[in-house]
Amino acid sequence: MDDMTFVLFGASGDLAKRKIYPALYNLYVEGKMPSSLSVVGLGRRPYSQEDFREIIKESLSTFSRREADPSHMEEFLESFRYFIFDAMEPQSYADLKAFIEERETEKSIPQNRLFYLSVAPSLVEPITASLQKSGITETDGWKKLIVEKPFGSDLHTARHLNAELRKAFDEEEIFRIDHYLGKPMVQNLESLIRPNPILKSLWNHDQIANVQITASETVGVGTRAGYYDKSGAIRDMVQNHLLQLVMMTALHHPEKLSAKQIEEKKSAIMEALRPVDEGNIQQDVVRGQYEEGEVDAQSVVGYQEEDGVEEGSNNDTYFAARLYIDNEYWKGIPFYIRTGKRLAQKSTRIIIEFKNEVEDEPDSEGATSNLLLIEINPNESIGLRVNLKDDGNEKFEPAYVNFTKNLDEQPEAYENLLNDAMAGNATYFAHWNEVELSWQWIQPILEAFEADDLPLHTYHAGSQGPEAAEKLLNEDGFTWWEV
Ligand code: BG6
Repeated sequence: MDDMTFVLFGASGDLAKRKIYPALYNLYVEGKMPSSLSVVGLGRRPYSQEDFREIIKESLSTFSRREADPSHMEEFLESFRYFIFDAMEPQSYADLKAFIEERETEKSIPQNRLFYLSVAPSLVEPITASLQKSGITETDGWKKLIVEKPFGSDLHTARHLNAELRKAFDEEEIFRIDHYLGKPMVQNLESLIRPNPILKSLWNHDQIANVQITASETVGVGTRAGYYDKSGAIRDMVQNHLLQLVMMTALHHPEKLSAKQIEEKKSAIMEALRPVDEGNIQQDVVRGQYEEGEVDAQSVVGYQEEDGVEEGSNNDTYFAARLYIDNEYWKGIPFYIRTGKRLAQKSTRIIIEFKNEVEDEPDSEGATSNLLLIEINPNESIGLRVNLKDDGNEKFEPAYVNFTKNLDEQPEAYENLLNDAMAGNATYFAHWNEVELSWQWIQPILEAFEADDLPLHTYHAGSQGPEAAEKLLNEDGFTWWEV
């Protein structure tokens, strides 16, 4: 890996503490860091270098999956420097440039610069523009930009943001994080079929009945109402994470794909996604909002009563939809997707339901559809549901074959993503084409939500969501598998 400077905007922020420092530490322990690295952490607060080191140490002791080892802490922390910075102040950029150059000389690092914007969305554009204006992005080596979600708040703002970023960085230099793409089980989807002839032979529309993608959470809006009440589940989870899961599931291929081919295939899937318009939105989309209820045996308030939520808010905390990918492989197979807050369990999973060919046959009592279960969170597992005769040898009952990965040995999503971005591998980042196509698909739904054209179904906190979402599947003769 090339030696480089890692410039972190938002060095005292929540994301840095919860994810970025632990990820860097675990990569360091695994020997996946460049041999010479300078990390420059930027923030407005007047921290000393000592304060900064304490912040990092505390972040590691609280959030790192691997216990921080004091014996190599000195060496790890040696790369880090704090720099007091005001993103709206031109002089800050001139000073930062000098500071980066000084450290490059001191550590003999070529001018390879990675800029990670872990900041409020409103700061992304001004920072990128100022980086260019100040000359910090004019390097003899390479430059890269990492940006977090949200990438815009609708099709128009996303296009605008992208155009602004492209003034300073080429598409190949921009790494848009969708942390779901960093999850090991999601990365597995790309190569799930190729080495498994058992799956390959079943992976077609003669055999698959439907695909169900769930990302349910038990948490409510918490302290994020300011952001969430404007974004809703549709922007927070669907435009990015859920549609990425759809693309990754649909991305099967008998041969190994290059990064470029994966990118092209994902865009092709989005292009084949049947548009939602006034003709089908009422039948295919369900929006919901939680009411008071009980989660993990604790009473919780409804969304309307949460701190910071606007009175009478019709924001969606739940979203479900029926999708069709009109291409040769997936034609006619419904994809059902759903996500919500304050549901019965925390679970991110993909279920492939196979056609039940024995349903109407005599002597098949109890036989149900075979399922392939891919669990992404909280466990990482893969399982099959098959039919076996019961003890009395009279009827069938389901049996599960399951393999669960050892989570202690699994890298965190951010480790995978930072490692890839530092190495320049963009496979598991959201490329502009697919981001634009996702917004394009979402846009009519956003507009219908804003015009209140769709009913807002309520559901009790701690339930499986609104009944209307169950009906989506029942109409087709299916049901959500709550396994
Ligand atoms: C984030 C959303 O992107 O993903 C949060 O902003 C959500 O609202 C989170 O809770 C879920 O991520 P995970 O990895 O816990 O499934």
